[in-house]
Amino acid sequence: MLILIDHANVDAIKETLKYLPIDGVTTNPSILYREGKEPLEVLHNIRAVLPTTSQLHVQIVSETAEAMVDEARALRSELGGNLFVKLPVTREGFRAIPLIVAEGMQVTATGIHSSMQGFMAAKAGARYVAPYVNRMDNYGIDGVRVATEIHKTLRSYGLEADVLAASFKNSEQVLELVRQGVGAITAAPDVLEALIKNPATDAAIAEQNRHFDILVGNKRSWKDLIDEK
Ligand code: G3P
Repeated sequence: MLILIDHANVDAIKETLKYLPIDGVTTNPSILYREGKEPLEVLHNIRAVLPTTSQLHVQIVSETAEAMVDEARALRSELGGNLFVKLPVTREGFRAIPLIVAEGMQVTATGIHSSMQGFMAAKAGARYVAPYVNRMDNYGIDGVRVATEIHKTLRSYGLEADVLAASFKNSEQVLELVRQGVGAITAAPDVLEALIKNPATDAAIAEQNRHFDILVGNKRSWKDLIDEK
């Protein structure tokens, strides 16, 4: 399973990369808006802190298929690398998917709010299909169930696409999709951080280290003991 950061703040991305096994970054126009900076410069800065093989997903903002293709070409020549062109699953977006795939670019179909949209985007040639889990929940649709259903449908038809589940508000939503074996998830740094944090771990390790400190004193580590021999 791939884990991506759904964020555009370079400092937050750098911090998350230090601690977690991350496969790339996803962005969208709202995420870039929140940074309040020139968006192309932000994308270059993100690319610069990512390992070269990491994925970078950038969303197309044009509204006709022809303009989407032109925009995708421009992004490819500007950013290069392991770029994924995010196409919304609008009517024109569906028309653009095979056109952009035919030019050798990788496509992530985004804004998915139903199982059928996910299946159709994969059939049209998208490498990833991105259901918006929390947004579906907000509309009274079970987002985790829809993302799981898309995953199972892709597998049962043998399509070469994976679910890239997006729009999370808590780590429990992510965990259920990990259990279901979806191909990828993308979430904000705070949600990703919550995937590894457990107060019981902190308490257990603190107690063990306190015992060692009582035994050898002065917060000494194994290295200290070895150096002092
Ligand atoms: O990449 C899509 C995702 O970021 C949408 O998330 O938090 O705006 O629902 P959100």
